[in-house]
Amino acid sequence: MSDHQLRVSKIRNGTVIDHIAAGQALNVLAILGIDGSEGYGLSIAMNVSSGRLGRKDILKIEDRELSQSEVDVLSLIAPEATINIVRDFEVIEKNRVERPDRVSGLLSCPNHNCITNADEPVETAFEVISDGVRCNYCGTIIHEDIADHLAVE
Ligand code: CTP
Ligand code: ZN
Repeated sequence: MSDHQLRVSKIRNGTVIDHIAAGQALNVLAILGIDGSEGYGLSIAMNVSSGRLGRKDILKIEDRELSQSEVDVLSLIAPEATINIVRDFEVIEKNRVERPDRVSGLLSCPNHNCITNADEPVETAFEVISDGVRCNYCGTIIHEDIADHLAVE
């Protein structure tokens, strides 16, 4: 690979999230609850050229693997993403994300009158529909900017 192509170095162990929609890398980090203070080695490439997508973002997180629920929400904002598990510099596993049927406990409902926003012990639940996600309790649909409704701090 020439110097022109090499943007961020390969990692020894961890996760490479590739083919993220351009501009969404920081939202993906928000979903993962990573802000850099945890000490993981972290490489972020945004708006780099990609044959398939035109432009894409890439995240490399060292010594960190993803849980299924993290992958589920990630799929809502980065449906084309590829998750590569790297061990000892080799990609040992490559997974495409899949849209789940529903997501629980990870998004908050924008409807202030929704039961999930009252002081009740009710976990949020959204059904994933073709053009967004729909609250199971009040029917409110979030069409875009799903990452703005993340319940993670
Ligand atoms: N990667 C990395 N460190 C490694 C191995 C791979 O950072 N030790 C990164 C590569 O830079 C690439 C991604 O992980 O962004 C996937 O690697 P690889 O499967 O080798 O690349 P491609 O075949 O181009 O992947 P795809 O077919 O998914 O586009
Ligand atoms: Zn609701």
